[in-house]
Amino acid sequence: MSAPAFRLAGVMGWPIGHSRSPALYGHWLARYGIHGAYVPLAVAPDRLAQAVEGLRALGFAGANVTVPHKEAVLALADEADPLASRIGAANTLLRRQDGSLHAMNTDAYGFLANLEESASFQATGRTVAVLGAGGAARAVIVALVDAGAVRIRLANRTRGRAESLADAFGPMVEVVDWRERSAMLDGVDLLVNTTALGLEGQPPLEIDLAPLPEATLVTDIVYAPLETPLLAAARRQGNPVVDGLGMLLHQAVPGFEAWFGVRPTVDAALRAAVLGPPAGR
Ligand code: ATR
Repeated sequence: MSAPAFRLAGVMGWPIGHSRSPALYGHWLARYGIHGAYVPLAVAPDRLAQAVEGLRALGFAGANVTVPHKEAVLALADEADPLASRIGAANTLLRRQDGSLHAMNTDAYGFLANLEESASFQATGRTVAVLGAGGAARAVIVALVDAGAVRIRLANRTRGRAESLADAFGPMVEVVDWRERSAMLDGVDLLVNTTALGLEGQPPLEIDLAPLPEATLVTDIVYAPLETPLLAAARRQGNPVVDGLGMLLHQAVPGFEAWFGVRPTVDAALRAAVLGPPAGR
């Protein structure tokens, strides 16, 4: 019998040295004994089109796409699934049998799968407060809307950006002034930070959590540090919290399954592998 074909995937970003994805996928490749590899691909913004063409030429099974390429890559794929188009960004490319490249967005899936698995959170019928109005916020809001959330309160430092984002969803997304970000927490079932605040090297998110109901789940897209000042403050108040690393782990599941043919498990061993030192250091 001939050996199975060697399968190749990777992650395109700029810079790419700090990406945890090679450790993440590397752990699964070893665990499932897969004949394949997943490599970091440093792709400058002006070389993205060439790099995508290169994936085809090199026979990659597909690739992840990260900052700053998530929006631009949509136009370079042969087709995008409707979810990726609605979010306006793709994080996963899949090469089909006929050689065409299909763009997907698995961030929305990863966001919800993390909350479901870590805290049994179901979005149906819920009211959610979202901080931030960038690309991450768009994926989070699409995920929540599709899963049946009934009301989203959205606050962003630059109010106009929140308004443009809210426009796509109608009255269920209500824009709240950034100065009112604390008051909007009254009665919400979930608080999500999608801003860069709290990330290593960035200032902390300043928000008074006093109006937050005590059972309200708090989560952060930021996962470096794992416990952001927001999550620490929520924990001190007695609120349940879910860190952002789980979203990274869960968003990787559909890509791995599509490229390598095994649906992988998110567990403590994977978390440990991803939290270890970056490969090559
Ligand atoms: P991403 O794709 O990760 O969401 P982004 O599009 O750059 O990244 O968005 C970053 C988010 O963090 C935005 O909501 C941004 O607010 P603005 O739209 O006002 O720029 C928010 N953000 C970044 N630094 C901030 C700060 N110092 N205070 C408040 N919000 C901040």
